[in-house]
Amino acid sequence: MSNPFEHLIPSYVQQFESYIPSKPDDELKRIFGIDHLYRLNNNENFMGPSKKVKEFMQNVNSGLIPVYPNGDSFNLRYTLAEKFGKSPEQFLVGNGSNEVITCVLKAFCEQGDNIITTDQTYAVYEWVAEFSGIEARLTPLDENMAFEPQRILDAIDQHTKIIFICNPNNPTGTFWTKEVMASFLEKVNNRCIVVIDEAYFEYVEASNYANGMYLMEQFPNLVVFRTFSKMYALASLRIGYLVASMDVISLIRKTYVVYSVNSLAQMTAQIAISDDEELIRNTRQMVRDGKKILSDTCSRLNLYHTHGEGNFMMIKVPVPDTLLYKRLIRKGYVIRTMTGFRFPEWIRVSILPVGIMQGFCESLEEVLS
Ligand SMILES: Cc1ncc(COP(=O)(O)O)c(C=O)c1O
Repeated sequence: MSNPFEHLIPSYVQQFESYIPSKPDDELKRIFGIDHLYRLNNNENFMGPSKKVKEFMQNVNSGLIPVYPNGDSFNLRYTLAEKFGKSPEQFLVGNGSNEVITCVLKAFCEQGDNIITTDQTYAVYEWVAEFSGIEARLTPLDENMAFEPQRILDAIDQHTKIIFICNPNNPTGTFWTKEVMASFLEKVNNRCIVVIDEAYFEYVEASNYANGMYLMEQFPNLVVFRTFSKMYALASLRIGYLVASMDVISLIRKTYVVYSVNSLAQMTAQIAISDDEELIRNTRQMVRDGKKILSDTCSRLNLYHTHGEGNFMMIKVPVPDTLLYKRLIRKGYVIRTMTGFRFPEWIRVSILPVGIMQGFCESLEEVLS
């Protein structure tokens, strides 16, 4: 039966398919009849947050709960400003960096406008644009699965408001160097806003990576997104932020709904960012070791795979990705199928500690043989 309220929503919302998130772990265990489950599907940091964060969490004052949080993460913004040598006014903290995607879109775009990104990247930029009635122009990646600057430049017209660059790219792990990014930004020449989503920034080991936080001094149309969900292991608290020049942030702030970030998230993020050296060092080591095991296994099994930055790898598999998902989950491993990212017959695997990666590699080999 058709929905009696459907005529009330705009046509671009009617056309949009809702995203169904994965079921809770306990439910998956019940469905697949398994007693353990490793999540290799969301690029979380399995090591968990830093010692100081854990100590803080154990002693949380319940007096916080009935009181509204600070509306715009005042203290956290001061800590971020000090860490990155910027003004606290340049930061906007959201309920996950997903929330700030919407703020930027709402601030700059109206119907008839377009945004540009690629067809094989984090899909939320495209989704938010489309269900807001904004055209999402998707340019193809290059032959190395990286964003291709010229194709993006060619797609710009007078209605282009925002370009989204995911650097490093989820899911391919490719990234733009300082030179590529600076040359691209020169050519954009302030015609539109350029967002660099640096969700995996803290995982990047390449020395020539384009750190958007520095480039912002030279290119005031730049907006950088970062998150506490990945390296900092605070995914369940939902907290991320954007940084921009004073001119740009004053515009984005107009569409920012205050009070969306809870007190616990604000306080925890402040502790996490003030004390991150050991966590970053240990996590990077874990990722290096885990990638080596996975990469060696893929090479031995003749499976084409990526060698990018970030705490994940993509693997091309000789069977449908959804079938592999079902086979692997029965062995206790949830992976990300890539058909939805327009990579049919690829999977994306988050990197966990060596012991778990070894178990995963054995299971992968078994289910493929
Ligand atoms: C590239 C990228 N950007 C943003 C996000 C969303 O992060 P958050 O948890 O801060 O909303 C993710 C999460 O997977 C991501 O991969």
